[in-house]
Amino acid sequence: MRRKLVAGNWKMNGSIAANALLLTQINAGFGNAGCDAAVCVPAPYLSQCQALLADSAIALGAQDVSSHDAGAYTGEVSAAMLLEFACRYVIVGHSERRGYFGETDELVAQKALRALHAGLVPIVCVGETLAQREAGQTDAIVSRQIDAVLSLIAENELTKIVVAYEPVWAIGTGKTATPEMAQQVHAVLRQRLHARSATAAQEVRILYGGSMKPENARELLAMPDIDGGLIGGAALKAADFLAIIHAA
Ligand code: 13P
Repeated sequence: MRRKLVAGNWKMNGSIAANALLLTQINAGFGNAGCDAAVCVPAPYLSQCQALLADSAIALGAQDVSSHDAGAYTGEVSAAMLLEFACRYVIVGHSERRGYFGETDELVAQKALRALHAGLVPIVCVGETLAQREAGQTDAIVSRQIDAVLSLIAENELTKIVVAYEPVWAIGTGKTATPEMAQQVHAVLRQRLHARSATAAQEVRILYGGSMKPENARELLAMPDIDGGLIGGAALKAADFLAIIHAA
């Protein structure tokens, strides 16, 4: 049985004051939730959030990581740096990084590998655009995206990753994939994992992301291959994020 994971992706939101309020409220409401939870915060706030989560069951994560170890890469943040702030997770290949910053499947795979080798858990994001869905390419696109990552990772390390299916057309739009639509793609992703390792297919958590909110979380999380959520907008409101955590 895979333990569910609910991770918040704050994207480029927050402030010192807002983060303190949000994490204090989330910590207070977490109680004895039966799932894993994490918040992936902007890099400048890692130190602040590390302190706010010091006695918390909620893990810390980052939103991106360099594909390089160290050196002359202005603006980049390395996996080793993230570890120094007690990060457990790092998102790689979010559609906003692929779309706005030109990240390729190959770069995303390198980032995932770098994170893994440093001891971080990469949350590898995949997902199709509306045009790709309407052209019937969803399965091919997400398979290509996940295979690029899986092919670089040694079989005995495959169980250490998390996958997130985020249909691009559902992100920040209020449009959610129906539980059945999401489940169908999660099953494709599970098959891709299985093609590499039966153990990984059994153990790797596949999160759904894209307008997940308290009103639709329970139904989505009830699907057999949906093992949690990657939450954008609703992760910025303590009550909404906690409601999703308690639905998981
Ligand atoms: P929303 O929940 O705001 O649609 O964002 C989803 C997302 O991109 C999480 O990574």
